[in-house]
Formats: sequence, C-alpha cells, structure tokens
Amino acid sequence: MLTVLNHSLIKHKLSIMREEETSTYIFKQNLDEIAKLMAYEVTRDVPIREKPIKTPICETVGYEMAEKIVLVPILRAGIGLVDGFRDIIPTAKIGHIGMYRDEETLEPHEYYARFPKGMENSIVIVTDPMLATGGSASAAITNIKKRGAKKILLVCLVGVPEGVARIERDHPDVDITLAALDEGLNERGYIVPGLGDAGDRLFGTD
Ligand code: PRP
Ligand code: URA
Repeated sequence: MLTVLNHSLIKHKLSIMREEETSTYIFKQNLDEIAKLMAYEVTRDVPIREKPIKTPICETVGYEMAEKIVLVPILRAGIGLVDGFRDIIPTAKIGHIGMYRDEETLEPHEYYARFPKGMENSIVIVTDPMLATGGSASAAITNIKKRGAKKILLVCLVGVPEGVARIERDHPDVDITLAALDEGLNERGYIVPGLGDAGDRLFGTD
C-alpha cells in the first residue's frame, strides 16, 4: 500500500530542502523535522498492549509498544532520516545497509550490511530519502527479508511512480510511505523535480 503524506508542514519543509540554494545545514535541519513527522505517521498502527499503571490519583490501564522497532537506513543518504526517527522512537535498534547506484546502468550495488538480532520479531522501517527506479530499496528489502524480517515498512521522502511500481511488484507485502510523489525520472535517473542527489546535499559532497 502507498501512503503519501499530504501534510502542510511537510510540504513547507520539503520545499526548503528542494531549493538549490539551501545549505547542507538547513537541508539536514529540515530533514530531521520531516523525519519526526514521518515517524509519528508511520507508527500510528504499531501494536500496543495494556499495562497497569498508577497515576498520582489512581490505578488505571496504560499502554506500551508491543513490538520492537528496527530502523534500517540505506547508506549513505538514508542515515539522514535516522536522527529524527530516533528522537521519536528512542528504543529502536539500528541496522545498516550500504547501497550505491551505478551512474550508468542505475543498477544498485550492495557494499555493506549489518543488522541487530531479532529482525524476525521486529517491525523493520527502511529509510531512504529517494525512491527513484526503486532498485536500491528493492535490493535492500530482499536482503532484510533474508534475515527473517516479516513486517517491513519503506519510508522515503520523495518517490516517483516508477519506484513505487518496482516495490509493489517485487515486495507487495511492504507498505510504502512518501512525503511527496513527484512526476518521474529524467534521462539520468534523477527524480523530477526532486531535490538533486540526496547524499551529496546531505553530506556536502559533489
Ligand atoms: C541514492 C538514494 C537511493 C538511491 C535511489 O543513493 O539515496 O539509495 O539513490 O535510487 P534508485 O531508486 O534508482 O535505486 P546513491 O546511489 O546516490 O548513494 P548515496 O546515498 O551513497 O549517495
Ligand atoms: N538518487 C538521488 O539522490 N536523487 C535522485 O533524484 C535519484 C536518485
């Protein structure tokens, strides 16, 4: 299932990130803020269980999260969403998967993978700012499934119909959440209008 978060605050902050002149510092600041809003939205239906608690007034029924959460950023740019998510879900464990996209073929290449124990019993949230061809996210999810993960959510800032279709084809069991659904890809595989190369803008490389 695809969810596009049509939220005024997110639209405002994402527009700042899209602007060519926005500095690395302001880019990351807005990414942190959007990540918090996205974390709030994607955890809306995480199972909770009842827990007896005592307020200063009386005993009552409280709640606690019933499932563990593992964040898996797709390196490099996916790291940019981790701080915001951890602010909202401080108990989340973090896995890492390194993927880069060949600039000519646009094929993804994995160069690093390390995950916490217990993936099979956790909700795994895969983060990456960009869902372009969908190749990187699809390959990352395939790897994560090999570790036994059964409940996987994909959270991206900007996606395009091509990338969404690729994930829906390869991983129909994975829910996708986007801050924005853009028009499509240009001849170099960049998202239009997009925000450019997310990793370069986040880390100040070029
Ligand atoms: C970017 C982005 C995604 C990928 C999306 O990473 O962060 O991982 O491209 O493209 P796709 O959907 O066509 O696979 P990139 O390969 O530029 O690596 P980086 O994060 O290290 O900059
Ligand atoms: N990766 C990026 O960083 N930006 C795009 O527009 C497409 C893929």
